[in-house]
Amino acid sequence: MPLLSDIGAAALRRLPPETAHGVALGLLRRNLVSAAESAPPPSLHCTLWGLEFASPLGLAAGFDKDAKALRGLFRLGFGFVEAGTVTPRPQAGNPRPRLFRLAADGALINRMGFNGAGLEVFAGNVARYRESGSGAPLGINIGANRDSGDRAEDYVTCLERLAPLADYITLNLSSPNTPGLRSLQEGEALQRLLGRMTETVAKLERPVPLFLKLAPELKDAALAESVRAAMDFDLAGLILCNTTTARPESLRSGARSEHGGLSGAPLCAPAQNMMREVYRLSDGRLPLIGVGGIASAEDAYARIRAGASLVQIYTGFIYRGPRLIADITAGLAARLKADGFEHIQRAVGVDARSAA
Ligand SMILES: Cc1cc2nc3c(=O)[nH]c(=O)nc-3n(C[C@H](O)[C@H](O)[C@H](O)COP(=O)(O)O)c2cc1C
Repeated sequence: MPLLSDIGAAALRRLPPETAHGVALGLLRRNLVSAAESAPPPSLHCTLWGLEFASPLGLAAGFDKDAKALRGLFRLGFGFVEAGTVTPRPQAGNPRPRLFRLAADGALINRMGFNGAGLEVFAGNVARYRESGSGAPLGINIGANRDSGDRAEDYVTCLERLAPLADYITLNLSSPNTPGLRSLQEGEALQRLLGRMTETVAKLERPVPLFLKLAPELKDAALAESVRAAMDFDLAGLILCNTTTARPESLRSGARSEHGGLSGAPLCAPAQNMMREVYRLSDGRLPLIGVGGIASAEDAYARIRAGASLVQIYTGFIYRGPRLIADITAGLAARLKADGFEHIQRAVGVDARSAA
């Protein structure tokens, strides 16, 4: 039943953004969405960290914060989904309104502030999904409560509880909407946190790949330091990048001065540059997930050629609906073929290598 079709996506855009999001999640939760028409072609299959991805295109964190609609989301044709950010205790997040459309800019601003039902509800939802789910890779993105006295401990709590349920875990240290959180992605604080995380993983029955998600504002020496730390602590990879607090001059929409993180088209070039830079800094030895402003197959392919092993979408999906998944999947396969790559992994980082 094609309820969340193009018509559905257009109708949702007439509602206030957070209401529309709730309606879309409700439809997805009840499986009232049309499933992808075809499976991704074999050229898009990839194996990373022992996980099989039918396609490198995933859904970014923040769409399904409580892991309520995983079955419906996978049915749409994503190769992987990242649920969360989840925090140990439930929290209401910032007062509404806290999500704004910048339609003329193809962008959103959000200051949700890790609203969610908390770790136990989240874990229950994932456990139920696991009993009957598709088996496609599920990432879980973890965070800290705003009023926590020991934020590093919050990450340990989430990691211990969720590692058995996750195919990978992302440490979100880069949300701009929890004051002070970003200070954890640099220097001593990062070293201490990663130390605790890797000690926790070492004690698990089954090790889980750990990712760090970085902010686009991280630049030069600070960025190099975070990349170094990820490699020193043997993380599975980095996710580049979260929303930005920058407000480019080009923004036209009335909501441009709202506080929060900007996502979508204006983030595409900064995220692409960050991908290029981190691929260079890590010598192509650290798997990278690219996210930020991807709204077409061309954007996704450019991110892969710059160094991304996988890509994720959020804002583009909000504006274009499920059709974007089919467009990117088909467009990536066509581009690989046109460039003579048998397989997606061959295209990862080729632009960086040819520039060297
Ligand atoms: C409404 C909204 C909520 C988000 N919540 C989270 C979150 O909870 N955790 C997280 O790591 N990223 C979150 N993000 C950031 C996205 O995962 C992604 O990194 C960012 O939006 C850039 O991708 P895009 O331009 O395709 O949207 C959120 C983004 C939006 C728009």
